[in-house]
Amino acid sequence: MSTESAIRAESLRKVYSSGGTDLIIFNELSLEVCRGERLAIIGESGSGKSTLLHLLGGLDRPSAGRIFYEGKDIVGLTERHLADFRNRTLGFVWQNPSLLPEFSALENVMMPQLIRGVASDKASRIASEGLREVELTARQHHRAGELSGGEQQRVALARALAAEPKVLLADEPTGSLDFRTGEMIIGLLNDLHRAHGLTSVFVTHNLSFAGRCDRVLELRKGSLQLPSAMELQEAGVVQDATRLGGGTYV
Ligand SMILES: Nc1ncnc2c1ncn2[C@@H]1O[C@H](COP(=O)(O)OP(=O)(O)OP(=O)(O)O)[C@@H](O)[C@H]1O
Ligand SMILES: [Mg+2]
Repeated sequence: MSTESAIRAESLRKVYSSGGTDLIIFNELSLEVCRGERLAIIGESGSGKSTLLHLLGGLDRPSAGRIFYEGKDIVGLTERHLADFRNRTLGFVWQNPSLLPEFSALENVMMPQLIRGVASDKASRIASEGLREVELTARQHHRAGELSGGEQQRVALARALAAEPKVLLADEPTGSLDFRTGEMIIGLLNDLHRAHGLTSVFVTHNLSFAGRCDRVLELRKGSLQLPSAMELQEAGVVQDATRLGGGTYV
């Protein structure tokens, strides 16, 4: 893991205005993620984890603040440039794999590439290799709707990595899976993180998963903090304090 920063968020503010009232999710939130790091973000439901991940992923814009990827600010980009940045740099995994059920696993992994203009034989080769990495070669021609939840999440992982992103952002990737299947996905996420030389940010409620990342931060009352040792101990996570976080930027 390099000490150079891959992502740097400065003084982020996010306010949702609805029904005539302003809901401040966070204010002056700063974060630095090193190149090659696996950062876990935990926090109570409603604390703003998904909101933060959407901002980092350029899917939503902060009310104020800046987000740099390798020194380049993405907040000021036009919609078109932001979409282009997302396509080239980021891979996303969500709690719900959101595959097209009538299409095969292979076609689902090919789809974003085809939309981007990659030739069909090349997209098929890349998709097939991606499905091999997630150990789904035998199922590549099965319709996505016929696959189990864990298999669908493995297809979603292959789809997220097909364009060789530098950064993987995942929001509760094991959230709808049983324990064993969740463990399988965690193992894959860790393997793929290394194999693809990724920088990864994982939002999770799974403290055991979080504890296996390089660093854990908790989003609480609008700021990122070190989680309490007791909380992690209760989850059976043995943590080295240096892996929890630190510095001016958390
Ligand atoms: N588009 C929106 N408009 C108004 N309020 C929103 C919007 N999106 C999220 N919120 C509010 O912002 C707060 C944070 O939501 P967010 O989804 O980021 O939480 P979370 O930490 O991801 O929760 P969970 O663990 O349940 O997924 C919540 O109170 C939510 O109701
Ligand atoms: Mg969420």
